[in-house]
Amino acid sequence: MDPFGSEMRTPRLRGRVVVVTGAAGGIGRAVALMAAGEGARLVLADVDRGGGEETARALSGGGGEALFVPCDVSDAAQVRHLMDEASRHFGGLDVLVNNAGIAGDAVPLHDLDPDAWDRVIAVNLRGPFLCAKYALPLLMRGGGGVIVNVASTYGLIGAPLAPAYCASKGGLVNLTRQLAVDYGGRGVRVNAVCPGYVDTDMGGHRARLPEAERQAAQQRREANAARQPLGRQAHADEIARAVVFLASGDSSFMTGSVVTVDGGCTATFNHGTG
Ligand SMILES: NC(=O)c1ccc[n+]([C@@H]2O[C@H](COP(=O)([O-])OP(=O)(O)OC[C@H]3O[C@@H](n4cnc5c(N)ncnc54)[C@H](O)[C@@H]3O)[C@@H](O)[C@H]2O)c1
Repeated sequence: MDPFGSEMRTPRLRGRVVVVTGAAGGIGRAVALMAAGEGARLVLADVDRGGGEETARALSGGGGEALFVPCDVSDAAQVRHLMDEASRHFGGLDVLVNNAGIAGDAVPLHDLDPDAWDRVIAVNLRGPFLCAKYALPLLMRGGGGVIVNVASTYGLIGAPLAPAYCASKGGLVNLTRQLAVDYGGRGVRVNAVCPGYVDTDMGGHRARLPEAERQAAQQRREANAARQPLGRQAHADEIARAVVFLASGDSSFMTGSVVTVDGGCTATFNHGTG
C-alpha cells in the first residue's frame, strides 16, 4: 500500500528542493522521509554526520534524491555553505525547514551557566536566523518559497526548568510572524509548528544519563504526556505531517501562523512537572 496515497494524486512537493536541518534523527528525519514521499529533493543538514548519512541512505534506498551536508546551524559560514551546496547541487531552493534544536540543561535560571544559555539560543534561535538569512535570497529567486520553523509549545507557555529553551522557542515563534510580514509580498510564506511531547530523544539527552536517571526522566515525560488531553506523546510522523502540510501548496493562504500539534496540552491548565 502507498502510505502517502500518491498513486491517487500528484505528490505535494514534487521536484521541490527542501532543506531540513537536524535531519539526522527524530522529527527532522521523519520530515525528510515524508517530504521525499511527496516527491521532494532533500538537502539534509546536521552536526551528527553518522545520523545524517543514515537518513540520506534511507532516502536514496527508497528512490529519493538526497544530499547530506554536515552543518552546525549556529555557524554563519557553515550555514552559508549549506545553502550554496543546495543551490549548486539542485539548482535552487524551495523550502527551508528549521528543525535543528537542543533542549539545554534542566535547571532554574539562577543555576544556569551563561555559556549554556548562549548555546541554546545559538542553536535554537540564531540557527533559524542564519538559515533564513542565507536561504531567503534563493527562496525569493525561485519566485515563492516556504519556511517552516519547528518551535515548541514551550515557546508559547512557561514550562518548568527550561528558561533558555522557552526563551529561544518564544523568540522563534515571533520571528516566524515577523518574517511573514517582511516576505509575504515577496512570495515567501513563513509558518511555525509547535509540537508538544514527542517521543524522540532530543539530542540523545536522556541516552547520556545514567540508567536510573534515564528511566526516571522517561517516566516523568510519559507521566506528563499522560496528563494531556490525548494522554500520550506524539510520534515524530505526527509532527512531520503538519510540517509537510505547511511546506506544500495545501497551506497556500497560511503565513505567520503558529500551529500547535500538541495533543491538546496548551488547551489545558496542567502542564505537568517538567
Ligand atoms: N521531542 C520533543 O518533545 C519536542 C517538542 C517540541 C519541539 N521539539 C523541537 O523539535 C525539533 C527536533 O527535535 P527532536 O525531538 O527531533 O530531537 P532530536 O534530538 O532527535 O533532533 C534534533 C536534531 O538536531 C541536531 N542538531 C543539534 N544541534 C545542532 C546544530 N547546532 N546544528 C545542526 N543540527 C543540530 C541533532 O543532532 C539532532 O539530529 C527541535 O527543534 C526541538 O526543539 C521537540
